[in-house]
Amino acid sequence: MVANASSPPARAHWSSRTAFVLAAIGSAVGLGNLWRFPAEAGANGGGAFVLIYILCVALIGMPLLLAETLIGRHGQRSTIASAAYLARESNASSGWALLAVLGVISSFLILSFYSVVAGWVLSFIATSGGDLLGSIAAGQPLAGAYANWTVEDIRQQMPDLFGDPWRMTLFHFIFAAATTVIVMRGVKGGLEMVAVWLMPAFFFLLIGITLYSAIEGDFAAGAKFLFQPDFSKAIQPSVLLSALGQAFFSLSLGGAALIAYGAYASRDSNLGGSAGLISFADTAVAIIAGLAIFPIVFSVGLEPNGGPALMFQTMPAAFHTMPAGAIVAFAFFVLAFFAALTSSVSLLEVSVAWLMERFGMSRAVASFGLGAGFFLIGLASVLSFNVWADHRPLPFLPGFENASWFDAIDGVTGKIMLPLSGLITAIFIGWVADRKLVNPETGLSPRLLPVWRFLIAWLCPLAVALILLFGLFPQLLG
Ligand code: TRP
Repeated sequence: MVANASSPPARAHWSSRTAFVLAAIGSAVGLGNLWRFPAEAGANGGGAFVLIYILCVALIGMPLLLAETLIGRHGQRSTIASAAYLARESNASSGWALLAVLGVISSFLILSFYSVVAGWVLSFIATSGGDLLGSIAAGQPLAGAYANWTVEDIRQQMPDLFGDPWRMTLFHFIFAAATTVIVMRGVKGGLEMVAVWLMPAFFFLLIGITLYSAIEGDFAAGAKFLFQPDFSKAIQPSVLLSALGQAFFSLSLGGAALIAYGAYASRDSNLGGSAGLISFADTAVAIIAGLAIFPIVFSVGLEPNGGPALMFQTMPAAFHTMPAGAIVAFAFFVLAFFAALTSSVSLLEVSVAWLMERFGMSRAVASFGLGAGFFLIGLASVLSFNVWADHRPLPFLPGFENASWFDAIDGVTGKIMLPLSGLITAIFIGWVADRKLVNPETGLSPRLLPVWRFLIAWLCPLAVALILLFGLFPQLLG
């Protein structure tokens, strides 16, 4: 039988609103919160960045998050079909579905390197887990991490890993396989199950490590670093752009993941309230993660640095000298793994749902095929750190001349594709889609509705157009 284009196909749903909200929080809370946020805050003036970031989340991120989830919930179809459906119902061109096409491609590409980074986390779970077992066997469960190693050896772990394509591929493979198997198990048995189990476990570990950090670490120095505003830095436009870009990545915006998750939400889920809750939880986790990480770093006299070194060199070195460091180091990497897995399944679900619907494939075949696909593409990111360290895939693109494969995929998705998808979403929902269809989906009160309409129609498109413009042409900023 040919599926009727005007009636939504029967689809799976979350078992409750709580499950929907937890799964969406699981998608949002990820590696972006754990080290991208603290590193960006440190580099961009601490408290002033945090303040601007919160404004970006509240005024731009949250309205867009609501826009994405409502496209999915209204359509009850996979991402591209949901966007096209709302466009057709609004008598507009189904070309607006481009917002979701971009999202599907970005999510798939992001997943290819996200899985490589999550593989690093797995590799550190393996070494810190082995180390913890060793301490327990030696009757010293409360020892510092890597008790018998020198600090140089601890710091050397990261360059050793980066120089070893086989080890990186192995852990990238394990993470990719775990992601694929969960998505294969479907909405309730897979996506919902990991969110319902891993998100509470994640929060529990995060609170535990933060309390530990407050007691054992230099909390005052950490809090000062994170919150004391340096307004001379923050008024620079580049800081504003970093904050907006971070808000996009952290809230999973522009990758169609929230359209996909919204499509599994039932009619009685209040989307406006959920969007508020998801944005709040994601931001709270970012700030709490900062409060967990910096006091530990400062207490042992280390300097916070950006990028992977913060998580894979500085933190292990800090745990070395801290009481019970072996346990906390292991718990820290397990926490990061939980956060990464609930995000990666959302990234894969986007393209799996699309293949299933578009080509009538079974979930198993679609998941397996795409899982193999992103694993293989991820190998380019693995090799960027060693064998292909000199490859420059985009020598012709301004700003990307010196990017490795890893940086190129990260940069093109994060700086171009996600914001572009967000821009089209804001224009589509703010100006094109029929208000009579859109407004009731929001569940917003008559007082909040006009505020959201203003933000989505005016502030979001303008602000996002600016990130795109200046992100691509920083020379315009002088
Ligand atoms: N938000 C996740 C993080 O902070 C990553 C992520 C999941 C994402 N889904 C996404 C980023 C969709 C962009 C688009 O780690």
